[in-house]
Amino acid sequence: MDSVNQADFWQQRYEQDSIGWDMGEISPPLKAYIDQLPESAKDQAILVAGAGNAYEVGYLHEQGFTNVTLVDFALAPIKAFAERYPSFLAEYLVCADFFDLSPSHYQFDWVLEQTFFCAIDPIRRDDYVQQMAALLKPKGKLTGLLFDKNFGHDQPPFGGNADEYHQHFAPYFDIEIMEPCYNSHPARQGSELFIKLLVK
Ligand SMILES: C[S@@+](CC[C@H](N)C(=O)[O-])C[C@H]1O[C@@H](n2cnc3c(N)ncnc32)[C@H](O)[C@@H]1O
Repeated sequence: MDSVNQADFWQQRYEQDSIGWDMGEISPPLKAYIDQLPESAKDQAILVAGAGNAYEVGYLHEQGFTNVTLVDFALAPIKAFAERYPSFLAEYLVCADFFDLSPSHYQFDWVLEQTFFCAIDPIRRDDYVQQMAALLKPKGKLTGLLFDKNFGHDQPPFGGNADEYHQHFAPYFDIEIMEPCYNSHPARQGSELFIKLLVK
């Protein structure tokens, strides 16, 4: 399964407009989470990796968050985002492989997870966990959504469940919240876990 690990696989989907799971808007639980953050969070260093069309990044920008980094290795959605948000600083738009980000250069207070983990080849889940932990500052957190569903096929989205995720994350994160999401988008009701994981 080399292809999902390569930018071309995703770039082609954006070019053909065949990203089937693009919600076209910020995910409601993430909007609710962002809306309850204190004013002091607005200058924290935030990463949205595998951001795609990056509705979350757009929303954070609109709400006055000033230090949000968008990472994706497909160029098409980044270009589209830059056109939609000309006031978003280009230096925060990073077209790179998440696994190549250097922790000596990038350090974040928190990371927002939205359908990135499920896009990664499942054999790389431990790599994802370790790279996330390395990119977070001490006391940093990984928060967002994971699928609570097995899709049963060999292409993304790759699902899972809380037991499995615990095994991957527990060596590097304290699991403060990993529970069924009560305010999912109607299309994802009953199939998401809300997570808040604190780096060890
Ligand atoms: C399923 S899409 C999700 C996009 C967005 N988060 C959303 O919810 O609409 C997964 C995204 O992750 C990106 N991606 C996958 N593997 C990546 C990697 N190793 N480094 C950077 N981006 C990656 C893809 O290009 C794609 O935009």
